[in-house]
Amino acid sequence: MASIFLPVVTMNLFSKFSAESPLIKGDLEKLSGSFMPNSFPHRENEIDHMVMVLSSIMRDMKPSNMLLYGKTGTGKTSTTSYVTSMLKEAAEDRVNVCYVNCQIYDSPYSILVTIVNSISTGTQDQIPPMGWPMDRIYGELVTRMNAQKSFYVLVLDEVDKLIQKNGSDALYVILKILDDTRMSRASIIGITNDANFLDTLDPRVRSRMNQESIMFSSYNAQQLRDIIAFRLDGIVKEGAVDESAINLCSAIGAQEHGDARKALDLMRISIEIAIRENREKVTDREVYEARDRYEMNVVHAAITSLPLQSKMVLLSAVVTQELSKRLMITGEIYENYRNICTELGFIPLTSRRIGDILSELEEFGLLSATTRSMGRYGRTRFIRVMGDPDQYKHYLMEDENLSHFMGSKITRQSRFENLDGVQKGMNLDAMDRALSDFADGEPDRE
Ligand SMILES: Nc1ncnc2c1ncn2[C@@H]1O[C@H](COP(=O)(O)OP(=O)(O)O)[C@@H](O)[C@H]1O
Ligand SMILES: [Mg+2]
Repeated sequence: MASIFLPVVTMNLFSKFSAESPLIKGDLEKLSGSFMPNSFPHRENEIDHMVMVLSSIMRDMKPSNMLLYGKTGTGKTSTTSYVTSMLKEAAEDRVNVCYVNCQIYDSPYSILVTIVNSISTGTQDQIPPMGWPMDRIYGELVTRMNAQKSFYVLVLDEVDKLIQKNGSDALYVILKILDDTRMSRASIIGITNDANFLDTLDPRVRSRMNQESIMFSSYNAQQLRDIIAFRLDGIVKEGAVDESAINLCSAIGAQEHGDARKALDLMRISIEIAIRENREKVTDREVYEARDRYEMNVVHAAITSLPLQSKMVLLSAVVTQELSKRLMITGEIYENYRNICTELGFIPLTSRRIGDILSELEEFGLLSATTRSMGRYGRTRFIRVMGDPDQYKHYLMEDENLSHFMGSKITRQSRFENLDGVQKGMNLDAMDRALSDFADGEPDRE
């Protein structure tokens, strides 16, 4: 008798996507930011400089502290981790490297805890992320460092964030502790995107931090081209990516202050688009599509990370503009912001705070504002939503606090007596006429 339990052969739902692509032969992930390449074209001098400083360890001497600076995407983080991983390979147990991103660990306390825990030998307990007094952490650090007898390299990435949050003293505390004669084997590599970082430090910290400084200059289009071509090698098949597509990614990256991350991301997204859409190869068209998507992602990240009140103000601007189809004034946006708060059950902020939030949204590039003289009605700030309002609304609705927004209380009948700079008693039509007249004119800058 035949078995009723026939083996069921199911196709994996994803298998058609992993089918051999006519465009790529390697792992596309190798183009992503987390992948460490084994060489860095156009960073040979910077790498040599770092190696020279750190090579003291090979001669049993403590290296100088270093400060690396340059714009984002110029290779600071990745070359540092490349060089320090080589150092670990060469010096083995004579060196201990601890990498700390100060955007995440942003107080001297959390940084010291991270250092101490990175030297734990398994039998020693991990110390808790909070609650220990500073001197106890310090004591533990001395004990653990002395037990190890190795050199210690502390990488403080985005070190400007530490200073921004805690002031120059925060770095002083760390430098001072690591300078302690009982642990004279520790040195620091500070990394910053802020070219003026040194100026923000007080002299005691500056001189300690800046024993060696290495500037990572921005890449130009030609250098980015070499970098992309190098990173594509072994990943794409011959002829799969047009020369002009590589040039376009490089040109866009060069325009963005020589950002290799952006150039490489664009290339990777372009290839993904070509694969998904079954295109023959990657051309300028895919790069332009990738750029649109990339920028949309930036807008998405900007909107979804706004605080709730800012989201409600932006939502108000979007729905007010939808309704009036023209430039808006602060008072109208405030009015509908209050309506949104009522509908969703939140307490509205004062109109002054809304003014600040509107300026913040302008800084993010989500809104644009110009101030114009309205003749006898005085000076008025006109606001417009930048980008695609539908898209904005869509992103805003991802917030569960806003997801049930219906717009039931949104009005066009603004109470003019509340509007900034517009005289009382002006009727809606007259204001609309005045607004559209002025909307076409040259902005009147402050
Ligand atoms: N010279 C280079 N060669 C190859 N890849 C590079 C080069 N410079 C930067 N990259 C890549 O660009 C991306 C951004 O570099 P990263 O080191 O994070 O920049 P930064 O820390 O200066 O912001 C990473 O994926 C890195 O691997
Ligand atoms: Mg970095």
